[in-house]
Amino acid sequence: MKKISKTKVVVLTGAGISAESGLSTFRDNNGLWENHRVEEVATPEAFDRNPELVHRFYNIRRANLQTVEPNLAHVALAEAESQFASFLLVTQNVDDLHERAGSENLIHMHGELKKKFCVHCHHKSEELGMLDVNAQCHNCGRVGGLRPDIVWFGEMPYQMDAIMAALLDCDLFVSIGTSGSVYPAAGFVELANRAGAETVELNLEPGDQQSAFQSAHYGPATKVVPEFFSRF
Ligand code: OAD
Repeated sequence: MKKISKTKVVVLTGAGISAESGLSTFRDNNGLWENHRVEEVATPEAFDRNPELVHRFYNIRRANLQTVEPNLAHVALAEAESQFASFLLVTQNVDDLHERAGSENLIHMHGELKKKFCVHCHHKSEELGMLDVNAQCHNCGRVGGLRPDIVWFGEMPYQMDAIMAALLDCDLFVSIGTSGSVYPAAGFVELANRAGAETVELNLEPGDQQSAFQSAHYGPATKVVPEFFSRF
């Protein structure tokens, strides 16, 4: 049996960790995500302007989840969780591959495809099918207020207090498969540096915050993530 490390770990993941499972990243394709500019589908204004388009976009993403599986990088993180006294996984991803791989101490800071909420009563619930503008909230009964539980640009990411507390108290911060271009997640490495943590970038190529990390390993996540955590 492996010894439990006393190291307190925070891991941040982005779209790159799910790329080898078959899910598109955001910025690798000329800044387009599945042929849409992010502002067309990932802002509250876009939803006000064209809710049908936004619903269709996320309905397709939600349905795609049924066609993909967690990869070796997701599995390595789920296994690592039990090897440390403290291990928080923060993901910017809205897919469910971390939980399907077995991760438990997990924060979806940008929301989840498999959830919806009602803009009228704020009730949150599971959504496995298709959302549309005529859907009725089962909690308040109103029609037309249901939206995907995704944190769009201009909105506050979830559980920032818990994330900040963990960052300021961690010994090791590992950023995986993210371009480091979207705040506040892009600023986590600096917070961890200030807390005195070791900071490591695992990515296919250097991200925008490259110079802030103390060390880096570049390559596909299915290779570099299991390799990195096997050292403990
Ligand atoms: P990006 O698409 O910006 O960045 C993906 C990163 O993954 C890039 O640095 C790639 O080099 C890297 N990458 C690609 N394939 C990889 C592989 N096989 N192994 C390892 N790394 C790989 O995605 P995010 O950084 O996640 O926000 O984007 C951050 C946020 O911007 C998203 O959460 C989303 C988006 O707009 C919201 O929707 C609010």
